[in-house]
Amino acid sequence: MTLMLEAKSIEKTYGSGDQRFYALRNIDVGVKKGEFVAIMGASGSGKSTLLNVLSGLDKPTKGEVWIAGHNLAAASDAELTKIRSENIGFIFQFFNLIPVLTAEENVSLPVLLSRKDQTKAKKKAKKLLDLVGIGHLAGTRPANMSGGQQQRVAIARALMTEPKIILADEPTGSLDSKTSKDILEILRYFCDNLNHSMIMVTHDANVASYAHRIVFMEDGQLVNELILKDRHLDRRQIIIEITNRIEGITA
Ligand SMILES: Nc1ncnc2c1ncn2[C@@H]1O[C@H](COP(=O)(O)OP(=O)(O)OP(=O)(O)O)[C@@H](O)[C@H]1O
Ligand SMILES: [Mg+2]
Repeated sequence: MTLMLEAKSIEKTYGSGDQRFYALRNIDVGVKKGEFVAIMGASGSGKSTLLNVLSGLDKPTKGEVWIAGHNLAAASDAELTKIRSENIGFIFQFFNLIPVLTAEENVSLPVLLSRKDQTKAKKKAKKLLDLVGIGHLAGTRPANMSGGQQQRVAIARALMTEPKIILADEPTGSLDSKTSKDILEILRYFCDNLNHSMIMVTHDANVASYAHRIVFMEDGQLVNELILKDRHLDRRQIIIEITNRIEGITA
């Protein structure tokens, strides 16, 4: 089984001596090709810290992170930048689109900034916008779109470089529940049908229920996991189970 992303014995500390604080400890996690993993846990449990370490944005104090077969600890800064840009796409809670650019320009930006073929880039951006259901808005600017439409643009942008791994921090945190459902179905589609691997941080049991597997964090450690792939329970039942797990941790 191919692991697209692997973290081995990760530890992340802040401060030293008596003041040492463990933001992460003993973290071992692997994400397979096409796998959709959600990370849940209370505020301050280390979710964003873990996402930053897994993406190479932040260095662990101990342990190794491997992205698509590359050991990040062994990479120079320049190599690290290359590994990240070739393999990872990001989706955030607030879409971070550029207001003066159209949807198509926002999506093709990663390629427009490089010296690659611009006509080809625009075609690809249009295709991705079609894929997320807003091809008709290619020439529209973010201010004239709904939140859900803007998040679709951000998803298309994250996919522009064909990243093997997509990292998302509360991707539906600023959307209503119907729009969230549409976005989560798109993300799940990318994993199930296009073999992208995804790691998504969320507080919301409903949002997490779209993942193949949920890992739960407490005080910087992975304490539990719930496997949902190949389960045919109805979503309500799954959400109740997730909620029970979280209550078990925080009780
Ligand atoms: N640069 C830093 N220096 C010191 N402590 C830090 C630093 N960054 C994070 N921490 C601490 O590490 C812990 C984990 O923080 P993190 O941001 O990963 O939590 P989180 O699970 O993402 O929380 P939230 O759900 O609120 O976003 C917190 O106690 C935080 O105060
Ligand atoms: Mg966080």
